[in-house]
Amino acid sequence: MELVSLVRLEGVSKHVLLPDDSRLDILRGIDFAVAAGDHVAIVGRSGSGKSTLLNLLGMLDAPSEGAVWFRGEPVRRMRRGRLDRLRGRNVGFVFQQFNLLAGRTALENVEMPLGYAWGRAFWRRRRTATEMLERVGLGHRIESTPEQMSGGEQQRVAIARALVRRPALILADEPTGALDVETGATVMELLDEIASEADAALVTITHDLHVAARARRHYRLDAGVLTPFDLGAAAPSGASDPAAPELAASVAESESGAPAESGAQTESDRGTPAESGAPAEGERDAPAEAAEARNPSEAQGAASVAVTTREDDAERAAVAS
Ligand SMILES: Nc1ncnc2c1ncn2[C@@H]1O[C@H](COP(=O)(O)OP(=O)(O)O)[C@@H](O)[C@H]1O
Ligand SMILES: [Mg+2]
Repeated sequence: MELVSLVRLEGVSKHVLLPDDSRLDILRGIDFAVAAGDHVAIVGRSGSGKSTLLNLLGMLDAPSEGAVWFRGEPVRRMRRGRLDRLRGRNVGFVFQQFNLLAGRTALENVEMPLGYAWGRAFWRRRRTATEMLERVGLGHRIESTPEQMSGGEQQRVAIARALVRRPALILADEPTGALDVETGATVMELLDEIASEADAALVTITHDLHVAARARRHYRLDAGVLTPFDLGAAAPSGASDPAAPELAASVAESESGAPAESGAQTESDRGTPAESGAPAEGERDAPAEAAEARNPSEAQGAASVAVTTREDDAERAAVAS
C-alpha cells in the first residue's frame, strides 16, 4: 500500500488493571496502518475501545503489548520531549465536545498550538491563525468566544485549531456527535477538504453512516478487535445506507439500539428530537440551535458514564494546545 506508513500499529493490545485486580482487555491484537493522505473511518459501539485506539495512534498512550511506529520509527524508543514535539507538530485532534478554551476568542484558541511568541513571530502567528479561521469560513468571527458561537461554528474553530500546524495526521473522535445531521455533514465536508488539501491522513471515529461513508477505508471495532469492512468502490459521500449493510449492522448495535438510520441514530443517541429526514429549507437552523443549547455544559453533564473518555479528551485538548 505504501513504502513507509505514517503511523502503524503492530500486534497492539491494551489492558488495564481494575481496582479489584481483574484485568480489562480494551484492545486486542490490532494491526493497523495509516498512510499520508489516507482517510479511514472506524465505527463501533460505546466502550469498544475507539478512543483508546485513537490515543495510541496519536502517541498519547502506549500499548500494553505490540508496537507503534511513526514514519517507520518505533515510538517506544523516543524520548519524552521529542515525542511531545513530534506529536505537537504532526497530530491534530478534533473532539466531539470541541474542547475550546472558554472565554477566549476564536483567534486565541487557534493561535494556541503555535505557542507563545513575540515581535515578528507574534504577528506571523496571528496571521497564520487568522488565515486558518478564514479557511474554515470564520474570518468574520475571529473575535467571538465559544459561548457566542453555535455548535457547528465551534467545531469549525476546533478544526482550525487542529490544522493550524499543518499536521500530517488528523484524529477525529466523533467529530459530528454533538451536531445535528446537516451541520455535521457540512463540518465533515470541510474537514475532508482541508485534510486532502494538506495531504494529511484523517482517521474519523463515528456513529454516523454518512460520515463513515466519506472515508476511503472502513473498520469496525468490536470489543477491542478491529476488522476491516469492504464498502467497495461505490460509496461516495452521501451514499445511501443500503450500500453498506455490514456497516449498518455494526452501527445498529451501537449505543442506543435505535434503528440504523444514521441521522436518527445519531440524534437519538443524544436524547434530542430525531432529525432523520432532511429538514425543510426554513427549518435548517433549528437543529443547530438545539446543538448550541446543549453545548457544552449540558452535554458534559450527560456524559457522566464516559468519565474516562472525557478525561482523555481533556488531556488531548491540552496536548493539542
Ligand atoms: N484507564 C482506564 N481504566 C479503566 N478502564 C478504562 C480505561 N480506559 C478505558 N477504559 C475502559 O475501556 C473501554 C473502552 O474505552 P474507550 O476507548 O473510551 O471506548 P469508546 O471510545 O469506544 O467508547 C471502556 O469500557 C472504558 O471504560
Ligand atoms: Mg470514545
